[in-house]
Amino acid sequence: MENLKVLFTEEQIQNRIREVANEMNDFYKGEEICAICVLKGAVMFATDLIRCLNMPMQLEFIRLSSYNNSHKSSGKVHAVDISLPDLNDKNVLIIEDIVDTGLTAQFLLDFIKANFHTKSTKFCSLLDKKIARVNDVEPDYYCFEVGDKFLVGYGLDESGYSRNLPYIGYKE
Ligand code: IMP
Ligand code: MG
Repeated sequence: MENLKVLFTEEQIQNRIREVANEMNDFYKGEEICAICVLKGAVMFATDLIRCLNMPMQLEFIRLSSYNNSHKSSGKVHAVDISLPDLNDKNVLIIEDIVDTGLTAQFLLDFIKANFHTKSTKFCSLLDKKIARVNDVEPDYYCFEVGDKFLVGYGLDESGYSRNLPYIGYKE
């Protein structure tokens, strides 16, 4: 992509992931978890994060969509594939790329609450765009707080492209 400014380098991302993973390793000590990666955006983050986690875990994938190929959230979250195993009595860790308006996170937390009695439910996001929030959702863990810019790379896409970049950037 042309004229892309780097916001977080590959090294910054990987270092910060290790820090957050260490917090989780401390928190979940002795417990097993079920990690749920929200496709497609969180795929890079989830695979790097879980390789730094040392507790026994299952890994599930769900697919949600809210963007309709534009830079603005449509305001409606669409569950493309939300088939999950029995999460009753499990420590659930949701892994997302970015919390923007917070609507996707709220949808997911409501879905889990409505369908399962988990042992615990934690929400982890690579990025937290707090300034765009329309509700009071707060990720339990996040790597970086970001401003109100449209970001691409490391899983984040623009109309399906740029997910493969190893860094996070934005157009000037
Ligand atoms: P929310 O429901 O508004 O919190 O949006 C969450 C979803 O929108 C994320 O999971 C991303 O897939 C997408 N999204 C939000 N901000 C950005 C961005 O800056 N770049 C790329 N995708 C984004
Ligand atoms: Mg996403």
